[in-house]
Amino acid sequence: MTRVFSGVKPTGHLTLGNYLGAMRQWAAVDQYRADSLFCVVDLHALTVDHDPARVRRLSRQAATLLLAVGLDPELCTVFVQSHVDEHARLSYVLECVATDGEMRRMIQYKEKAARERERGGSVRLSLLTYPVLMAADILAYGADEVPVGDDQAQHVELTRDLAVRFNQRYGHTFVVPRATVPPVAARVMSLQDPGSKMGKSDDAGPGIVYLLDEPEVVRKKVMRAVTDSGREVVYDREERPGLANLLEILAACTGGNPEALSGVYESYGSLKKDTAEAVVELLRPVQERHRALCADPGYVEGVLRDGAERARAMARPTVDAAYRAIGLLPAV
Ligand code: TYM
Repeated sequence: MTRVFSGVKPTGHLTLGNYLGAMRQWAAVDQYRADSLFCVVDLHALTVDHDPARVRRLSRQAATLLLAVGLDPELCTVFVQSHVDEHARLSYVLECVATDGEMRRMIQYKEKAARERERGGSVRLSLLTYPVLMAADILAYGADEVPVGDDQAQHVELTRDLAVRFNQRYGHTFVVPRATVPPVAARVMSLQDPGSKMGKSDDAGPGIVYLLDEPEVVRKKVMRAVTDSGREVVYDREERPGLANLLEILAACTGGNPEALSGVYESYGSLKKDTAEAVVELLRPVQERHRALCADPGYVEGVLRDGAERARAMARPTVDAAYRAIGLLPAV
């Protein structure tokens, strides 16, 4: 059976981008067709300036949201990265296969390091090695597929390179995974700045729709979305990025196609109105389930405990094999 692994990082409240680009496919498709694991990757949240209490709170919230979007612990494994030691164990060994140059070429590293420096902060070493930990997340489970949004594709490519290199040098140990990216909404853009991704840790609140935004807030954000000058509704990512983003969001919410939808609307106003309602309706059941789950924190804890146990049992043999292959003396 195909093995699937993916994760979300608790650095901010989860967004419509996270949902349309990744989580929705996990819940609607992946958990039914594959042996799948979904992880709150909390170790990754420590790679930038962080507040411990906030990371803890956001990790719990992200885990609750994974269940609220419809992941069923009877069908898939839901857990928290730091509960399974194998991620950090494998990450170190993969650091011995990866190179400094490779890490410095990663787009997200360059962007995030520049942002930290602009703020006058220092760049954590873990930000540089972030993609290696991500590779460890994936390779520890022998995942065949990694369903992610477009922004993570480069990291999955690197994971492939590390797996191939390790296998060639030390003998076949890892499955070489591939990224799967949704056909629509693989990169949802900010509603205020359609040139940049709708990212949870960005400061541009009005440009980001959060999964837990109240309907009125969602409507306001969508209605105030920056559109381009021009009057007709056409789908053109290059020339009309703001409009294209709205058409993609609407298409992703309604199962349509952005190009076809562009012919249906005569004004920006009616497109925005329909998009706002489509997003509100999409989020309604998620928010309802989230409320119910918050009333039962013991249930969520139990899911995470079982999930970590299952994950540990899956990862340990592969990580042990990697330790042996690279030359470490087995513990007796
Ligand atoms: P993260 O937490 O930034 O995002 C989680 C998932 O949501 C997708 N995504 C988007 N998709 C479309 N449009 C957007 N605006 C948008 N924003 C986010 C991301 O592509 C991702 O699939 N490094 C990863 C977490 C991670 C991981 C892993 C993922 C760590 N280890 C192993 C897969 C496998 C990250 O920061 O995702």
